[in-house]
Amino acid sequence: MYETQILPVGINSIELASKLLKSGEIVAIPTETVYGLAANALDDSAVNKIFEVKGRPNDNPLIVHIHSMDQVQSFAKYISDDAKSLMEKFWPGPLTLVLKKRSGVSNVVTANLDTVALRMPHHPVALGILQHCNMPLAAPSANLSGKPSPTSSMQVYEDLNKKIPLIIDGGNCVVGLESTVVNVSDNEITILRPGAITREMLERIVGYVSTDKAALNPLDKDTIIKSPGVKYRHYAPQADIEIVRGVEISIYRYITRAIMLDKEKGINSVVLCTKENEKKYPQNKIILGSIFRPETIAENLFNSLREIDKRNYQKAYVQFFDTVGINAAIMNRLLKASNHNVIDVG
Ligand code: TXA
Ligand code: MG
Repeated sequence: MYETQILPVGINSIELASKLLKSGEIVAIPTETVYGLAANALDDSAVNKIFEVKGRPNDNPLIVHIHSMDQVQSFAKYISDDAKSLMEKFWPGPLTLVLKKRSGVSNVVTANLDTVALRMPHHPVALGILQHCNMPLAAPSANLSGKPSPTSSMQVYEDLNKKIPLIIDGGNCVVGLESTVVNVSDNEITILRPGAITREMLERIVGYVSTDKAALNPLDKDTIIKSPGVKYRHYAPQADIEIVRGVEISIYRYITRAIMLDKEKGINSVVLCTKENEKKYPQNKIILGSIFRPETIAENLFNSLREIDKRNYQKAYVQFFDTVGINAAIMNRLLKASNHNVIDVG
């Protein structure tokens, strides 16, 4: 058990984080996407602590965070021209690349796969810590397994108080959703987890990019799982979530009526809506962001999912957005949070 400290960004806290990481401890750090729970990627017993603290199944591999291109060579066996172009364009940034791993790269971090996931974050604090300790850092999102990823230090604290020695408070994460995970270890380039670096952005650099079926569809028994993380229920509040798909007017009608009927049954339910359509919903609502600036919806999404439980709602309704640009990432998280509970209302 630890007395968990939350420290603001500064040279002292970065030095302390670095010292703890070097001694095999795990530390929560801000990144531009979500808060990460970092450990020395070269120290298996430190990495094992991450799995333990999060309650994460150990067949779900971690992303290794790096700060320099030289470090890529020590993990990846082979870097294709396309992979290089993506690194040049989007690193540092919210993009994770899955590459064939070198022999000798730990099976703990990579969960016995023959690939390794690498990301160079652009958050100054994440980069600062990586540079200061000069080690590659394995870092999943700093939430308990299954919970929405944390986008503020308080949310990390809610999940991990007493379980880790230190949280560095870097304010709210600007992206709000985890990095785009892209497999570049095969001939075909595939998005395994959509994020702020969208398919359209990737395609401008490398041509056709596919999206893994599991990103937006429920798993059926024939689906081949390319990224172990997709198997598990994710981002889920206690409340049930229902995604409502159809034309706008049908969506409003359905949700308004559903919330009313729930109330009659004694169920306290809420709509997650956009700034533009909030007036259409007379009842309980949580505003996600602006439909015209979907990055604001991405930024607030996990916070809104946590808010559902905090306000004791038992059920939440949300419209189906399209899957263009960053909306693919938003829908991926909502579909997983709802266990693919989608209703078509015409
Ligand atoms: O933005 C992010 O990526 C954050 C911050 C902290 O950097 N990290 C993060 O890590 O989201 P995590 O562990 O919550 O998600 C990592 C995802 C999982 O879905 C995992 O299955 C996948 O990346 N992954 C990791 N290594 C992989 C590999 N070798 N092959 C395929 N998928 C992999
Ligand atoms: Mg995660």
